[in-house]
Amino acid sequence: MQRVLVVGAGFMGAGIAQVCAQAGHQVSLMDVKPEALNRAMEGMKTSVGKLASKGLINDNPGAVLARVTPVDSLESAASADWVLEAALEIESLKLELFAELDRLAKPGTPLASNTSSIPISRLAAATSHPERVLGLHFFGPVPLMGLVEVVKGDKTSDEVFERSMAFVRALGKHPVRVGRDIPGFVMNRVFAAAFREAVDLVANGVTTPEDLDAGMRLGYGWAAGPFEVVDNAGLDTFVLIDRFLQSMGEADLVARCDLVEKMAEQGRLGRKVGKGFYDYTPEGKRVLRKEE
Ligand SMILES: NC(=O)c1ccc[n+]([C@@H]2O[C@H](COP(=O)([O-])OP(=O)(O)OC[C@H]3O[C@@H](n4cnc5c(N)ncnc54)[C@H](O)[C@@H]3O)[C@@H](O)[C@H]2O)c1
Repeated sequence: MQRVLVVGAGFMGAGIAQVCAQAGHQVSLMDVKPEALNRAMEGMKTSVGKLASKGLINDNPGAVLARVTPVDSLESAASADWVLEAALEIESLKLELFAELDRLAKPGTPLASNTSSIPISRLAAATSHPERVLGLHFFGPVPLMGLVEVVKGDKTSDEVFERSMAFVRALGKHPVRVGRDIPGFVMNRVFAAAFREAVDLVANGVTTPEDLDAGMRLGYGWAAGPFEVVDNAGLDTFVLIDRFLQSMGEADLVARCDLVEKMAEQGRLGRKVGKGFYDYTPEGKRVLRKEE
């Protein structure tokens, strides 16, 4: 058993806390918004219950949930063996968090970010121990997705990198090595290429999200098409990632039209609000989008 502090209790943080608790770790889940913590704890209860009823976890659901403590400050960083940051994709916010976490955490505790686009080396530069900073990039929904990118910053030590590979394996996930700190890492660069093309094809009236998603599932064996993936991830999160990558001069990586930004402005943020590229019933069932 190790002590883990997860910072940010949104879509990703809640899932990360859950898989750490499922692996037997004692987890503090921190957020600045009490409603995010409440939502995370409720969501976890449902998810752990479902996994247990399908026989996908061996532990008693109550025991898993009892290992997660919601907290409203970073103080438990002092006793943490691992710190996993999954707050909003805003560089200034993450820089502040890393400076504070570096001050609080004991030496040797790895400080990992779940960032999708911000270079790990920039976050590490906010700390006095850049050798313990790295990327642990989970995929959502975290309890269901089998991989984590393990990203080496310019100064991440080999010891911390290898310890993190083992930590990810012990969570039951496949660690994908990212040996160099490049924007978008590996998986998001590949996904961005497909999504950028998909958005162009839909924006130009060549096809629809439903047909393209079905095509990728049936023709290429994807578990979900690109529009389904973005609806699950949240269009607001995608807008933040795109803006950051553009600010880094990586405009080629992101969607070429402003369709996603417009939809986010209209409140079509994806599955979490019941509407995105698709609409969703209150039970979360995907249905074709109603024109507004
Ligand atoms: N959504 C995805 O599919 C996905 C996949 C991989 C990585 N990521 C990355 O994971 C991170 C979180 O994304 P998300 O989709 O969970 O976002 P989210 O909006 O669902 O959750 C972010 C949470 O951070 C909290 N927060 C804001 N300021 C904070 C602070 N100072 N301290 C603690 N918590 C704070 C917010 O209250 C919110 O609950 C981002 O860096 C994102 O790029 C997202």
